[in-house]
Amino acid sequence: MSDKAILEVNGEKHEFPLITGTENEVAIDVKALRGSTKGVITLDPGYKNTGSCESAITFLDGEKGILRYRGYSIEELAEKADFLEVAYLLIFGELPNQEQLDKFHADIKSHSIVDDDVKKILDAFPKAAHPMGVLSSLTSALTAFNPSSVNVDSEEDMYNAIVRILGKFPVLVAWTMRKKHGLPLEYGDDSLGYVENVLKMMFKSPNKDYEQNDILVNALDKLLILHADHEQNCSTSTVRITGSSHAGLFVSLSAGISALWGPLHGGANQAVLEMLEAIKEDGGDTKKYMAKAKDKSDPFRLMGFGHRVYKNFDPRAKIIKVAADEVLGDLGVEDPILDIAKGLEKEALEDPYFVDRKLYPNVDFYSGIIYRAMGIPVEMFTVMFALGRLPGWIAQWKEMRMRKEPIGRPRQLYTGETLRPFTSIENR
Ligand code: SDX
Repeated sequence: MSDKAILEVNGEKHEFPLITGTENEVAIDVKALRGSTKGVITLDPGYKNTGSCESAITFLDGEKGILRYRGYSIEELAEKADFLEVAYLLIFGELPNQEQLDKFHADIKSHSIVDDDVKKILDAFPKAAHPMGVLSSLTSALTAFNPSSVNVDSEEDMYNAIVRILGKFPVLVAWTMRKKHGLPLEYGDDSLGYVENVLKMMFKSPNKDYEQNDILVNALDKLLILHADHEQNCSTSTVRITGSSHAGLFVSLSAGISALWGPLHGGANQAVLEMLEAIKEDGGDTKKYMAKAKDKSDPFRLMGFGHRVYKNFDPRAKIIKVAADEVLGDLGVEDPILDIAKGLEKEALEDPYFVDRKLYPNVDFYSGIIYRAMGIPVEMFTVMFALGRLPGWIAQWKEMRMRKEPIGRPRQLYTGETLRPFTSIENR
């Protein structure tokens, strides 16, 4: 196979190197394009055909429905690892041994206290505030309480920033939920595992002891693993481009949280449940919603379906669908919403509109059914997505900064007015 691409522009041929990745993906290196063609650029809204970086963290094959973190399959990790092991793997590149994992967890615990003044910021929010907006603000505010910006040239400094945010973020997650429900703000319990601690901070009632439920712990651990990274998705690209200006880690994460909030991205898990509830209220009339999803004059989309990269089943959706049956069974929860979801999936997978466009269930289609069975309120679903995605965002930010990548600043094609003289207001 040739190692170069040839582009002819206005009769002139230009050669560009081809770069091949470790999974035999091929990219045209166009770094020299504008210079060699005297100003010609590429145009690719939504970056559907454009790579923003080389990365060694996560590999996706959208046609084959493959997802791997640092070379390990998502199926094996979801089955055999726990969330903190996967966080370590994504951030540092290797699965930890027991000693490394224990130290990682101990260092995270040592930073799991959030400055009490952060509560004053939280108190300023109305109860009706969406938790994603609160979480993004509090994460950004952490910079004020932890001013040491990350000196990326120091491994120690980088490590300290990472364990600090991994320690404090779960507290902020729990506080956003408890604030909404008018509950006192709990701190964690250092005697617990990472995920056990999250659940206790979220659910401990002030007037009784908290009893761990292993079904909930295992379900949340698996969901967090499945959400932990996903290469250059919208929110991760936001974290990378924000960090490329050398903005700090916490504010870059805050930007990522805001991007994730959108219903076309992480906000879809909440939108899926609201859609399924609406179908249930409508007497389970899935055909009406299928028709709406196909009607170009109707902005409605079948939430939880479709994906920019996966043109086959999202491997995470497959795992979550099985887990949904297991968790609801273990908890003894009968949820008609699950049956509606399965019915909708069956219809969509047989409908030419969805088949022709290769629209399959994605990670968000079934996850909310498990969160709801666990007692997590629907407005917290995307916050749980952010908790899972945190190590992936950290890993991607660290990779970008350690490689000293340039500031992200795309070009554009100007299609506005050409030069025209100013006219005074009397003459307009
Ligand atoms: C996540 O990128 C990631 O990796 C994201 C994520 C991660 O882990 O970070 O995987 C998490 O964000 C999953 C996606 C969650 N979003 C949803 O479930 C919202 C519903 N899905 C869509 O809005 C859509 O599928 C996107 C946003 C996910 C992908 O959109 P694309 O790649 O820009 O595709 P498109 O909008 O160009 O759609 C192609 C065609 C269009 O029809 P035509 O113009 O060809 O006739 O498919 C149609 C779209 O109208 N289409 C849908 C649809 N999704 C696409 N029609 C109905 N319902 C849908 N859900």
